[in-house]
Amino acid sequence: MSTLNDLEKIYINDLRNIYPKQEIKSIFKLLILDLFKIDSIFFLLIKYDIVSLSKEKKIIDYLNRLQKYEPVQYILGYTIFLDLKIKLNKKVLIPRKETEELVIWCKSFLNKENKIIDLGTGSGCIAISLAKYNKVIALDKCNNSLKTAKLNAKNNNLNNLLKFEHTNGNKVFNKTFYAKFDLIVANIISSELSKLAQDIAKYLGNNCYLVLSGILKSQENSIINKFKNFNLLLVRKHYVENWVTILMIKKDRIH
Ligand SMILES: C[S@@+](CC[C@H](N)C(=O)[O-])C[C@H]1O[C@@H](n2cnc3c(N)ncnc32)[C@H](O)[C@@H]1O
Repeated sequence: MSTLNDLEKIYINDLRNIYPKQEIKSIFKLLILDLFKIDSIFFLLIKYDIVSLSKEKKIIDYLNRLQKYEPVQYILGYTIFLDLKIKLNKKVLIPRKETEELVIWCKSFLNKENKIIDLGTGSGCIAISLAKYNKVIALDKCNNSLKTAKLNAKNNNLNNLLKFEHTNGNKVFNKTFYAKFDLIVANIISSELSKLAQDIAKYLGNNCYLVLSGILKSQENSIINKFKNFNLLLVRKHYVENWVTILMIKKDRIH
């Protein structure tokens, strides 16, 4: 028979080679809040109470999964992205902290009612965050991602504000259409970006923005140069460890 405090100590000991102590405590708390459906204050109140055997079994089962390097977000089946609860499964990427910053960054230069493309939407975290005040089309070549993104939009009551489209991966849209967008945001790998550069540029209006994320530092110059060929100029870069987020602006040539 154990208390939450005893179980937390087991977590700290058994996960010490994988995570720092503070992170283990945060992970433990996240799992407990979810399992007991309680908030942080209640967590402190029950920390020294005996846990039922069925709950203890679950807590140890979570520990076994963490020891196999399974991220806590996949164990929970969701993550909190800014103020949104985003459901996840192993077929969609766990949104990164930098992606939250990217959304805040985008909001800083967007006007209400701007038209936006989220290329490679995955869980839909970027598209759904930007959809409150803007018109967003979320695209992905993976049907499973689109299914998850649609579910997340519905769960956050924003599904009426978003459009989702499946693409074949070789073009931005499967069918060409003539709309221009105020912002295109893409958190996809460099090789895909290079392939789509010309098509991406085609859908951006003059003085409109492109935000590229998930780019390795070693690939940033080739990506910037690739987009330069299509009238996109570098505005800003933001580094997090080995990764860079790039903001570019479209400047149509005046003939
Ligand atoms: C790294 S995940 C990013 C997910 C989400 N936007 C985020 O920031 O957490 C990349 C997503 O882009 C999709 N993708 C990759 N290449 C693509 C392409 N050429 N066209 C459309 N979607 C693509 C993948 O299926 C995947 O869902």
